[in-house]
Amino acid sequence: MTAVCTCELARRSDAETISNMSRWLIEAGLTPMWVPERVLWHLRDRESTVLVARDQARLVGFAVMQFMDTTAHLNLLGVIPTRQRSGIGRQLLRWLEASAVTAGTFLVKLEVREGNFAARRFYASMGYSEAGVIEGYYQGRDNAVRMNRDLALTT
Ligand SMILES: CC(C)(COP(=O)(O)OP(=O)(O)OC[C@H]1O[C@@H](n2cnc3c(N)ncnc32)[C@H](O)[C@@H]1OP(=O)(O)O)[C@@H](O)C(=O)NCCC(=O)NCCS
Repeated sequence: MTAVCTCELARRSDAETISNMSRWLIEAGLTPMWVPERVLWHLRDRESTVLVARDQARLVGFAVMQFMDTTAHLNLLGVIPTRQRSGIGRQLLRWLEASAVTAGTFLVKLEVREGNFAARRFYASMGYSEAGVIEGYYQGRDNAVRMNRDLALTT
């Protein structure tokens, strides 16, 4: 199914919703790190993009990417459960990748919880390769799988 939603830069008023969604979609079982103040910091940071997907006025997905000199790091990506598998995650990630390419940044890196097989399959389908495991990356409680994609190879 194709997503019918709009990708746009987040507003300050989205920070609390993004924080809440991160807590239950991504940080389950961990001490929440993506508090509203941290989301607001990324909204202000000129080297970060906080992106949301909206269906009408409803926020249905979000992503945070930080742009460094030669790499971009995907910090967060989430879609509400009732709208998963409808192309919204792909739409958000492709938007950010296009921004990275425009900025001349071709290497995208991310970490995902080792047991999050759905997300690992999602990223694999988006062209990302697994590049190793980081033991205890998530507060010593969970391992991370590092994944990356070289956009120069396909664009
Ligand atoms: C991972 C996540 C962001 C994917 O977003 P999504 O909008 O559901 O994904 P899409 O619909 O864009 O999927 C694109 C492709 O990825 C693959 N994919 C997505 N979810 C998958 C799953 N659960 N199992 C297998 N493949 C999957 C498929 O190839 C899919 O294409 P298809 O539906 O045409 O087969 C979403 O499931 C999510 O928010 N999960 C919870 C939070 C999370 O784990 N975030 C990532 C870690 S930060």
